[in-house]
Amino acid sequence: MPQPTDELDLAHGPTWKNRIALAPLTNRQSNDDGSLSQDEVAWLTARADGGFGLVMTAAAFVAPAGQVWRGQLGVASPEHLPGLRRLADSLRAAGARSSVQLHHGGRRAERSITGVAAQCPWDDPAHDAVAMTLDDVAAAVESFVAAAVRAEQAGFDGVEVHGAHGYLLGQFLDTSRNDRADGYGGSPDGRFRIVCEVLAGIRAATRSGFQLGLRLSPEGFGTTVQDGREYARQALESDLLDYLDLSLWDVFMRPRKGGDALLIDHFVDLPRGEARLGVTGNVRSTADLQWCLDKGADFVSVGHGAIVHHDFAARALADPQFVARPMPVSVDVLREEKLGPAFVEYLAETFPDVVEVSGNG
Ligand SMILES: Cc1cc2nc3c(=O)[nH]c(=O)nc-3n(C[C@H](O)[C@H](O)[C@H](O)COP(=O)(O)O)c2cc1C
Repeated sequence: MPQPTDELDLAHGPTWKNRIALAPLTNRQSNDDGSLSQDEVAWLTARADGGFGLVMTAAAFVAPAGQVWRGQLGVASPEHLPGLRRLADSLRAAGARSSVQLHHGGRRAERSITGVAAQCPWDDPAHDAVAMTLDDVAAAVESFVAAAVRAEQAGFDGVEVHGAHGYLLGQFLDTSRNDRADGYGGSPDGRFRIVCEVLAGIRAATRSGFQLGLRLSPEGFGTTVQDGREYARQALESDLLDYLDLSLWDVFMRPRKGGDALLIDHFVDLPRGEARLGVTGNVRSTADLQWCLDKGADFVSVGHGAIVHHDFAARALADPQFVARPMPVSVDVLREEKLGPAFVEYLAETFPDVVEVSGNG
C-alpha cells in the first residue's frame, strides 16, 4: 500500500514529492480586478513551505461573467498574468508542484460583480440566469482552455477543472435539471459532453508535460451516486486526465441514500488507466491520510487541516501520530498560520466550525 510519504508519478509532467495536496480553498484575498494580492501569495507559499506535494489555488474565474465572489482570483485576462507568475515562481522555489483551479459560476455568478445576467444550461429566473446558446457553450469551453493556457504561461505545473459543487460545469451534470436537447444534456453522455470538450481542448492547447486534473462531486447538486460514478468512469477512461479529484466532503461518509458501502467505495474500484485518483474531505491526521490510501486513493487533498496548520503536510509526513489541532481556532492562530485579514473575515462570516468569532477581535 502506498504511504503518504511516497512520491506520485502522473501520466504527464513532474512527479509530486508526496501524496498530500492542498485542497482548493476560496479565500477572497485577491484584488478587486482578480489579480493576486501579496496576502494570497503568502498564504499559498506558506503551504508549499509546509510540505504539500501539490499546492492548488482557490477557484479562479476563467471569464469575468463567471465570477461568484468579491476577492476571487482571476485567470481570465492578460492582466492576471504577472501575479500568477509571481505565485508560480514562489511555489516552485518552495519545492511544491502547482495547479490553478479553473472555475465558472454559471447561474451562481454574481450579477452585482459581473454586471451581466448569469448563464446556465437552462433558463433559471430564480437565479436571474438565462439558458446558454450553443455559441455560449462554445465560448465557455474556450474560456476554460484560454485560462489553462494562461496558467501554463504563468509557469504552473497544471490546472484542475472545477466540475464539482454545482457551478457551471456541475450544472451541466445536473440530472434533475439539465434536459437540454442540443447534445449537451438529456443523457449522461450529453451532460458530460462540455466537460470532455474542456478537457480535450486544454490537452490540445497545452504542452505535453502540463498536468490536467478534474474535480467532481460524487453525488448531490442534482446527481445521484450512480450518475457521479458514470461521470467519474468517463473521466478516468478519457485518457485526458492526470488525476480525478473527488470532493467527498467527508471521506468516511456513506451516500445520502445510505447502503452498506461508503461513498468512497463506489469510486475506488473504477478502472483508472494512467489517471490518479485523489479524495478530499475531513482528513485531519496521518492515520486518516493512510486510511484513504489504504482504501485505494492515490493522493489526498486537505482543506481545513491546512487552514489551521500551514505545515499540515510536513507534520503528517514526520509523525504517524499527528492529529490536527481541534477547531474552531482563534483568529490569532489563523494569523500565525499566514491567513490574511480578508480570509480570516470570510471564515469568521461563513465557517464557524473553523474560527472562534467571539472575543477574538
Ligand atoms: C474556506 C473554504 C473554501 C473552499 N473553496 C473551495 C474552492 O475554491 N474550490 C473547491 O473546489 N472547493 C472548495 N472548498 C472545499 C474544499 O476544497 C474541500 O473539498 C472541503 O473543505 C472538504 O475538505 P476538508 O475537510 O479537508 O476541508 C472550500 C472549503 C472551504 C472550507
